[in-house]
Amino acid sequence: MSLDDWADASDNSSRCYGVAIDALRERLERSKVEIGPHVLYCEDAEFILPTLGRFDACVTDPPYGLDLGVNSDKRQGHGLGRDGYASYQDTLDNFLGVVVPVLRASLGISERGAVFCNHNLHALPKPDAIGGVYILAAVGRHCWGFNSFAPIAYYGKAPGLQNGSRPSAILSNEMARPNGHPCPKPLGWMKWLLSHASIQGETILDPFMGSGTTGVACVRMGRIFTGIERELKYFDIACRRIEEAMKQQDLFIPQPKPEKPIQEALTL
Ligand SMILES: C[S@@+](CC[C@H](N)C(=O)[O-])C[C@H]1O[C@@H](n2cnc3c(N)ncnc32)[C@H](O)[C@@H]1O
Repeated sequence: MSLDDWADASDNSSRCYGVAIDALRERLERSKVEIGPHVLYCEDAEFILPTLGRFDACVTDPPYGLDLGVNSDKRQGHGLGRDGYASYQDTLDNFLGVVVPVLRASLGISERGAVFCNHNLHALPKPDAIGGVYILAAVGRHCWGFNSFAPIAYYGKAPGLQNGSRPSAILSNEMARPNGHPCPKPLGWMKWLLSHASIQGETILDPFMGSGTTGVACVRMGRIFTGIERELKYFDIACRRIEEAMKQQDLFIPQPKPEKPIQEALTL
């Protein structure tokens, strides 16, 4: 190969590199919707995460790898009795090969994390603490009976610990309002979790946004949200819900209380 051939080849490869980078940039921009300070991506989280900066907290509810929508007959297996996701296959293989690496990457760019999980918890990065939601009314069934607990894996430390510790689990019978997603989380659960995992004004990442419940809770509680969802159908629902919440946000974000007047000591 002559020097001229080499120069041509290297010129060609840097042109190809430039074209590839432009195509990636375009794909990134096309997937992105901004709603006020909140950013939503309709893409695979594996593609988006390397382009993001750091977050105060990753708060998420990933697919659990329990074959959602398969064998939903109540007499068999888990008996969830629900539809599956639009195209994502909720298999254990996908949980191990897709969900766990995305969670690892998301926790890697976050100061702390709170991740809903189930009995496949052993495959997650090792948590620093466990909490959850006790659901006495039960949601669905597993092979040992009714499911009455939704565990949460916590990573890092809760903010504001210096002001005292708070319970890391709650009791709730709140049901999620049907919204077109097969398994949305109740809004009250996400608001409680956000209040536990972050403080007002912090940045929150949800790489498995679904219908955007974490995002709605962020809007209502004055957090700045970044969400990723691969299914256009759920992404559209999330955009609509977050836009709606933004329209009403002034009603929800707690306003600072007027300071109490301080009684000065009398100087005689
Ligand atoms: C359990 S649902 C989240 C539900 C959400 N908490 C809500 O209230 O609507 C998990 C979501 O992750 C999405 N998902 C699965 N793999 C993904 C990936 N690689 N990147 C982005 N989203 C993904 C699924 O389409 C599904 O909507």
